[in-house]
Amino acid sequence: MSATDLSAGNGTDAEAAHPRPVVAVVLVAAGSGQRLGYGMPKARVPLGGEPILMHALRGIVASGVAQQVCIALPAGDGALRRMCDDFRNELVDGGPLLTVVDGGATRSESVRSALAVLEEGTQAVLVHDAARALTPESVFHRVVDSLAAGALAVIPVMPVVDTVKTVKATSGNDARIAPELVVGTAPREQLRAVQTPQGFDLDTLLRAHGAVSGFDEEQGAAITDDAMLVERLGVPVHAVRGASQSLKITTPLDLIIAEGLLEGPLGARWVEG
Ligand code: CTP
Ligand code: MG
Repeated sequence: MSATDLSAGNGTDAEAAHPRPVVAVVLVAAGSGQRLGYGMPKARVPLGGEPILMHALRGIVASGVAQQVCIALPAGDGALRRMCDDFRNELVDGGPLLTVVDGGATRSESVRSALAVLEEGTQAVLVHDAARALTPESVFHRVVDSLAAGALAVIPVMPVVDTVKTVKATSGNDARIAPELVVGTAPREQLRAVQTPQGFDLDTLLRAHGAVSGFDEEQGAAITDDAMLVERLGVPVHAVRGASQSLKITTPLDLIIAEGLLEGPLGARWVEG
C-alpha cells in the first residue's frame, strides 16, 4: 500500500450503501501469555479490575457486528469457561450466540478450532486477538463496512512511527563488532503495523487455512496473522485505519499503557476513532 490518508472515511456511507454480511467473530484467547509473565493465561490477567478476556468480549458485543462470537480458550481452563458461561447469561435477548472451543498449540490452530464450529449461514469472519482488549467499536465497523463493500479480506493498520530496517546475523569478524548487520531500510511511508480484527469472506479464509496442512513446522510457526495466508492465495487484502487503543497487550509495559488508557486523564479526552 502506498502512502495514503488513513484518516479518510468513517464507514457511515459504506454502511448505508451495502447490506452487512452475517458475521462471526473468532476471538483467540488460548495463548499462555509468556511475555506478559503474569503466571497465568493472558486472558485471565486483570486489567482495570476485570480479566482481559472480558474487556475483549464486551467490546465485540458492544460493536453489534457479530451474530456469533466463537472464543478459543486454553484447553481445560475451567475458570475462563465459567467466565464465558456467566457472560452468556448476562447477555440480553438479541446478543450474539456465544460458542467456546479449546484452542490449539499455536494461534493459527486456535483459529482453525473456532472456524470448525461456526454456524451455518455465516458469510464473513472477523478474527480478533483477545490481547487487543481495548479495540474501539469504530474499528470493527470499518472492517465490516469494507467487507460489505466487496472486500474478501481486510485488515486494520496503523502508520509506523519507527524507521524499520532489515538485518542479518553476523559471523566471523563482523560478529566481534556487533551481533547483527543492517541489510536495508524499508520506506516507512509504505509500511503499516497490522492489528486485528481482520475480516474475511468465510470461504476465502477457510481456503487459506486449508493450505496450512501442507506446511512444515517452521512455516507453521511463521504464521503470525491470517491475512498472510490469504495473501498466499493471491487474494487482495485491503487495509483500513486501526486505532492506537488496539495495542496488543504483550509485555508488562503494554499492560501499564492499557491500564492508563482505562483510568488515566487521557481517557476522557481521547479523540481517536
Ligand atoms: N493465541 C491463541 N492460541 C495460541 C496462541 C495465541 O489463541 N496457541 C492468541 C492469544 O490468546 C492472543 C493472540 O492469539 O489473544 C495473540 O497472541 P499473543 O499476543 O502472542 O499471546 P500469547 O501467545 O498468549 O502470548 P506469548 O506469545 O507472550 O506467550
Ligand atoms: Mg504468542
